[in-house]
Amino acid sequence: MKIITIIGARPQIIKAAALSRTILNSFSNEITEVILHTGQHYDANMSEVFFEELGIPQPSINLNIRSDSHGQQTAAMIEKIEAVLIAEQPDAVVVYGDTNSTLAASIAATKIHIPIVHIEAGLRSFNKKMPEEINRIMCDHSSTLLFSPTKAGVNNLLAEGFEATDAPYSIDKPGIFHCGDIMYDNSLYFSELSTKKSTIITDLGLTKDKFILATVHRNDNTDNPAKLRAIFEAFDTISSIKDQIIVLPLHPRTKKMLHQHFSEAFVNDLLSNVNLKVIEPVSFLDMIALEMNSKMILTDSGGVQKEAFFFKKPCIILRPETEWVELVDCGAAKIVGSDQQQILAAYTHFELANNLEFPNIFGKGNAAQYICEQLLKHL
Ligand code: UD1
Ligand code: UDP
Repeated sequence: MKIITIIGARPQIIKAAALSRTILNSFSNEITEVILHTGQHYDANMSEVFFEELGIPQPSINLNIRSDSHGQQTAAMIEKIEAVLIAEQPDAVVVYGDTNSTLAASIAATKIHIPIVHIEAGLRSFNKKMPEEINRIMCDHSSTLLFSPTKAGVNNLLAEGFEATDAPYSIDKPGIFHCGDIMYDNSLYFSELSTKKSTIITDLGLTKDKFILATVHRNDNTDNPAKLRAIFEAFDTISSIKDQIIVLPLHPRTKKMLHQHFSEAFVNDLLSNVNLKVIEPVSFLDMIALEMNSKMILTDSGGVQKEAFFFKKPCIILRPETEWVELVDCGAAKIVGSDQQQILAAYTHFELANNLEFPNIFGKGNAAQYICEQLLKHL
């Protein structure tokens, strides 16, 4: 069987590591994987670093599409992906998550009748103003095999009219699988390596369980000056309480928008706060080290919310809703949007909380193995 895995953004490269590793270790006689990188993320610290560090085979095709408006970026990807698919004739296209690369791959593949395998299917924010919500709905509705990490994801698909049916599967009768989270596979697999190799905690002079880790990149936050200001002012306030250190690996989108929305004086003032350590995006092993050693995580990232949970850290979600509803339901995370008062209240809540529970929601860390078995059965 030949599959083409289509990736483009940072979290997809990381997710792909789990499947590529499993194919190479356990299915190399049965599955040949060709990796296509759309080039949606292209800075070395948003792309190349992950291939090197996580042992992912280099993509045999890089479309170098880079940043643009949604329409221009997605259209350029569709055109080039279609040409590759026609030339390569894979048995299926594997896509992850909900980025423009996911959408472009889905449109290109479905029109020329190549089955789509969607990993991270069924997740919904129920907020169609999010570009990711549109991308994931359109991808799910053109897929043949839908792998959902959570029960909530499976239920969302059933509520949208998908049916739980038996094989054989097709685009008109897709198969739905509850498989656990492929990111959990990675967090388990790479945490040991991170502990051995990452030096970021000592390099930054951090103390275990004393600092907060934060990330911000969601367009709803970065593109709205009032929201971005409120979030950074909340960071500023928290970091002035009891000399609380916050480490913030800054996404390039957020960096760009900080400079676009605010005066140099405001940005310099933020960056001169010694307790708010704004750093470049970090490698995955460094990110895991930061997550494992932090005491609390503030983020609008989907992946980082879950990793907080995997490493049993309370999470403050800087969004108005989450696809990972289980984290909130069990009390390990709180949704606060960009409201400064709510961010501060959630910080105080988790500072005082003990006995937080982190039940097993995301499987056993063998999602990639399960997915490969199903590909062989059903394609
Ligand atoms: C994309 C995904 C989002 C995902 C995120 C992961 C879409 C619609 N959004 O958002 O779902 O959570 O990736 O990080 O697909 N930039 C650089 N260097 C890079 C990449 C981006 O400087 O290597 C800057 C550019 O100014 C660009 C901006 O970041 O315009 C946004 O990049 P883009 O890929 O369009 O969206 P993300 O916000 O990264
Ligand atoms: N990540 C990383 N370095 C960073 C920030 C994030 O390796 O500086 C990892 C993080 O551990 C997670 C993934 O990137 O696995 C999440 O990606 P991101 O937040 O960009 O996107 P999202 O998950 O929201 O789509």
